[in-house]
Amino acid sequence: MSSTLLPLMQLPAWQALESHYQKIKNIHLRQLFADDPQRGTRFMVEDAGFYFDYSKNRITEETIRLLLNLANESGLRDRIDAMFRGEKINSTENRAVLHVALRASRDQSIIVDGTNVVPQVHDVLDRMTKFADCVRSGKWVGHTGKRIRNVINIGIGGSDLGPVMAFEALRHYSQRDMIFRFVSNVDGTDFAEAIRDLDAEETLFIVSSKTFTTLETMTNARTARQWTLQSLGEEQAIARHFVAVSTNGEEVAKFGINTENMFGFWDWVGGRYSMDSAIGLSTMLAIGPENFRSLLAGFRAMDEHFRTAPFERNLPVLMGLLSVWYGNFFGAETVAVLPYDQYLKRFPAYLQQLAMESNGKHVTLDGKQVPYQTGPIFWGEPGTNGQHSFYQLIHQGTRLIPCDFIGFCQSLNPLGSHHDILMANLFAQTEALAFGKTVDEVRSEGTPDVLVAHRVFEGNRPTNTILAERLTPETLGKLVALYEHSVFTQGAIWQIDSFDQWGVELGKVLAMKILSEVELAEEPELLHDNSTNALIRRYKSVKLRHN
Ligand code: F6P
Repeated sequence: MSSTLLPLMQLPAWQALESHYQKIKNIHLRQLFADDPQRGTRFMVEDAGFYFDYSKNRITEETIRLLLNLANESGLRDRIDAMFRGEKINSTENRAVLHVALRASRDQSIIVDGTNVVPQVHDVLDRMTKFADCVRSGKWVGHTGKRIRNVINIGIGGSDLGPVMAFEALRHYSQRDMIFRFVSNVDGTDFAEAIRDLDAEETLFIVSSKTFTTLETMTNARTARQWTLQSLGEEQAIARHFVAVSTNGEEVAKFGINTENMFGFWDWVGGRYSMDSAIGLSTMLAIGPENFRSLLAGFRAMDEHFRTAPFERNLPVLMGLLSVWYGNFFGAETVAVLPYDQYLKRFPAYLQQLAMESNGKHVTLDGKQVPYQTGPIFWGEPGTNGQHSFYQLIHQGTRLIPCDFIGFCQSLNPLGSHHDILMANLFAQTEALAFGKTVDEVRSEGTPDVLVAHRVFEGNRPTNTILAERLTPETLGKLVALYEHSVFTQGAIWQIDSFDQWGVELGKVLAMKILSEVELAEEPELLHDNSTNALIRRYKSVKLRHN
């Protein structure tokens, strides 16, 4: 794709945006709303179950027109079509990018290397359904005949963050007499704390790893195996207490899990795009197959919206373009994601991998250094907690931090006035961030002169507000797909490969080398830099003293 495109900064729309930015950079949202009192409902799209208000952004109609030109000149439409057609758009790994096939309906056809992959997707879903029904109903019992009450997903990165985020987000719908835990960190504390109050006879491990070679996951899986064998004594117990989710049957078998108890997926599913593949087995066990299928239907609805809605009404496209606007023209370094729903407490962490592993790239598809910023830093916490911690900096700090506010009109736990208070806070924050408080307003409250500057809120802080009716499995699917496709949009504009992750390799390789050095009893010859050598020596000397 990139070879037929001009470099991003040479695109006419980019250059037009540069001069447009000079005109708009000092215009205040107060002014924009005064000039256009209907702005709040005009810069709004209602579709796919969301009310998306982007009026509190530092944009005019001209900005949107130019950003849409940028999308067109960047070949976004072709790129979207290429993804949905199953073309190998992950060019550095020569792979198709088909998380959209994971939620395709049975009658759809998506061809990869001459094969329709949709039937394979549904075969796995059907096997997952059967298994989940057996475990949830108590038909699948442990080695000693006890019912499975505890499910522990062992995985890391995309094989953990999606499952844990989805479990927390959909806990309301989960089977409450079962315990679900997630072990990811190679720090033994993670495993030790996960199993400390559990009975191995009632515990099922799902070892989730696309490659089945990831050091952290395999270390945790071996420890889990040992713990199970210690309690249950016999090797045959493993078959009742371990299942695998992977693309690598050979490694699964080598580990000792019968591949009959393996749920597969495919190399065209990126780790961070895999929560709706078999990697979602723990989610299905928690919320049941029917709810899992609603989750998939939500993803599918957003896929359809992304694929077919005109760009000016296309939620992921608009969100992605706004992110480019702030990151590349205003110099914003981060995006804060602020869900006003406690169930979404792991959503920002999930988005960190999705967005930052996808778009944290420094070269274009054809390997040229990018002369502009790419993926912003994603971060956030649920509201209202964040208000009492880092919002100070968003309101009055020196940095521009565009924020996504996410809220639901109905609570899953209606308790007195809690939900009204929660939502009033969400709306108030977007209002305060946009309009602030002027010197005159502060003075008119009788503020002593010496404090006036401290109490002024500049405002003009941009926000998106994403409102949905209720947090359901379907809504969650839509929300995740919204961000997936927004990340895609940004990557297409930046002309980067959003689907590889070479940046994680170097640390992995060096860790293996250092591991062999720290495990040796004697002093090995250390050939690292002076700092790393000293750190290794210090660690080894303390370790030796305590052994
Ligand atoms: O280290 C990065 C990464 O490759 C992620 O992209 C991936 O989600 C994670 O590791 C886990 O990989 P796997 O599922 O193969 O264990």
